[in-house]
Amino acid sequence: MSRLNRKNDHLYGVIRKIPGRADFSEINFVHNCLPNFNFETISLESEYLGRTHRSPLFINAITGGTEIALRVNAALSMAAKSCSIPMAVGSQMIALESKTLKISRSFRIVRDLNPQGEIWANIGSYADPSMASRAAKMINADALQIHLNVPQELIMREGESAFGGMVERIRNIVEWSPMPVIAKEVGFGMAKEEASLIAKCGVNGIDVGGKGGTNFAYLESSRSGRKLSPEIANWGLPTIISLLEVSEGIGDRKIDIFVSGGMHNSSDIAKALALGAQAIGMAGMPLYILANYGQNALVKWINKIEHEIKLIMMMTGSKNLDQLRKKSLVITGLTAEWMQRRGFEPNYYAQRG
Ligand SMILES: Cc1cc2nc3c(=O)[nH]c(=O)nc-3n(C[C@H](O)[C@H](O)[C@H](O)COP(=O)(O)O)c2cc1C
Repeated sequence: MSRLNRKNDHLYGVIRKIPGRADFSEINFVHNCLPNFNFETISLESEYLGRTHRSPLFINAITGGTEIALRVNAALSMAAKSCSIPMAVGSQMIALESKTLKISRSFRIVRDLNPQGEIWANIGSYADPSMASRAAKMINADALQIHLNVPQELIMREGESAFGGMVERIRNIVEWSPMPVIAKEVGFGMAKEEASLIAKCGVNGIDVGGKGGTNFAYLESSRSGRKLSPEIANWGLPTIISLLEVSEGIGDRKIDIFVSGGMHNSSDIAKALALGAQAIGMAGMPLYILANYGQNALVKWINKIEHEIKLIMMMTGSKNLDQLRKKSLVITGLTAEWMQRRGFEPNYYAQRG
């Protein structure tokens, strides 16, 4: 079945080489030589989706559907449990459409192994409330992600091309949903205008899913054997730009911002948090580490990132993430130029400390 093969192709496509990294090099922290508190008092707690979380990290949607996906999901679930961080399952559309128990089991394993954990369901933007409800029930979900992946569908041989009604369907799901709903891009980024439209649908969170990490244009063109022009293979808004765009698009609305797309360096993560992210999603890198070094290595890697975020918090004089979000950030280069041309104010960040 080609849809199941696709799930395995994605897994194999990502684990062969270290995934790309977001470029936050034009965002600069200002060192604080007088923090005046003890390292042990630093807290990584982050409030989002109406709950307090121990850490701002989560494992983003990756997989489900096949025998290999079941094994990957089992290991990811155990790692998420050890680290007490949320985890999203991969798209459940395949399970909703096939009704084969084996397929839905590859998703349910995530809940079975972590009954008390925070687990998020994942559906496509062509799903309706009844599909959303079945996906959520399948894993007893705490929140629901709706993924947006138009370029991927267009490049995939077996992909969708009918995109009418996406906004209405998101709104319908939000109106139905008894749990928080997150709209997420999968790595092509999101502009202010669309973030604003999505915000008006009433979602609780937006995942900016920018370019820089896992590249589905490249993965799908490799799968199909159809080579893309470099401009199309590199299509999208980089993660940093996507984050700045989404922040502007949301404005004063109380919507949580999640940042993903090549977020696997502690400094990039701390900068995204300082720019207003409530949480950081990681997919390609956890999968790469799991496949190449195992579950314990993944847990150690997550712990190391958390420790390094704390080091940066100490060196910027931030006891908690709210304080980090008020520290000065100097934005330079093309990122600052993009902001100016789009009417955003880079100096606001440089002088807010
Ligand atoms: C193998 C693989 C499969 C993925 N499948 C899904 C999916 O089914 N649904 C979804 O919303 N995102 C999916 N994603 C996208 C991730 O959730 C994330 O948005 C994207 O990979 C960018 O993050 P990264 O650079 O940390 O990988 C997948 C990512 C990977 C690596």
